[in-house]
Amino acid sequence: MARRTLTRTVLAAVSVAALFTLGACSSDAGTGTTGGGETDAADDGVITLGFSQVGAESGWRAANTKSIQDTLTAENGFDLKFSDAQQKQENQIQAIRSYITQGVDVIAFSPVVETGWDAVLQEAKAAGIPVILTDRAVDSSDETLYESFIGSDFVKEGEMAGEWAVEQYDGEGYQAVELQGTTGAAPAIDRKEGFESAIAGSDIEIIDSQTGNFTRAEGKTVMEGFLNAHDDIDLVFAHNDDMGLGAIEAIEAAGLTPGEDIKIITIDAVKDGMQALADGKINYIVECNPLLGPDLAEIAQKVIAGEEVEKRIVVQDEAFDQEAAKEALPTREY
Ligand code: AHR
Repeated sequence: MARRTLTRTVLAAVSVAALFTLGACSSDAGTGTTGGGETDAADDGVITLGFSQVGAESGWRAANTKSIQDTLTAENGFDLKFSDAQQKQENQIQAIRSYITQGVDVIAFSPVVETGWDAVLQEAKAAGIPVILTDRAVDSSDETLYESFIGSDFVKEGEMAGEWAVEQYDGEGYQAVELQGTTGAAPAIDRKEGFESAIAGSDIEIIDSQTGNFTRAEGKTVMEGFLNAHDDIDLVFAHNDDMGLGAIEAIEAAGLTPGEDIKIITIDAVKDGMQALADGKINYIVECNPLLGPDLAEIAQKVIAGEEVEKRIVVQDEAFDQEAAKEALPTREY
């Protein structure tokens, strides 16, 4: 078995060139005029977009930031204002308020946690500034607070990880530990749910589960704690590659062999994770595609042009075993 592909709902394929031609021709792009009134895409054809990023917690995040910064360039008709929230919701709220005050044409952000956004999103709406969500969802009953949500299906990712675990290990009485992502974040909530539903009915049991905050350092620390508390860990399910890579360090330091004594399944498929998979230290990775810049650019162009946009764009993900990782690595983009 090599790869699997998630079912996807995507935009009709539009080449990047066509996309930016569209932007350059948007003479009525002034629908993005904001309450602040300092910028107006109709005046100069440039879309001022304020982006609030979660942080720099992982290889995935670095690739996601690069994709956004490489795509939303002046050359492509954007004036990108970028801020790093260092994994803190209050920093994101502050950044969004600052973008509202500056009167940007569009606000985009990847919400660090799911809840607590309604007030600031109401402020953006009152100022007439459209909001696009990337990567992570918000938990709000008011869908008018944002135009579109672009990102992976995290529940499906967790399910794919769990289904592979069941295929490989059911019947062996495996004891698993789980390294969760940031508490309250959509990928942590959804991947947990997907994995648990996939292993339900099998004899794989999750004996411990804690957050490692999506970072390598915290993944290592939490894994050290698991190894001290339990003699009998067979499997690690890490919500991202970085925490899985931290777990590898802890397992090796304990004199065990990752991928053999303790099996490891992760999510992301960034280069470091894929290398560990190719080396046999990780056993399986479900991809989470971080290259969201082009879709964000396209949706922002459409919103400013007053066109209808899809409310939910599900990004394509694959999954890799060792053989598939070796094949993919030489041309891996991130
Ligand atoms: O929201 C996507 C998740 O956030 C990635 O899986 C993880 O690596 C990142 O920190």
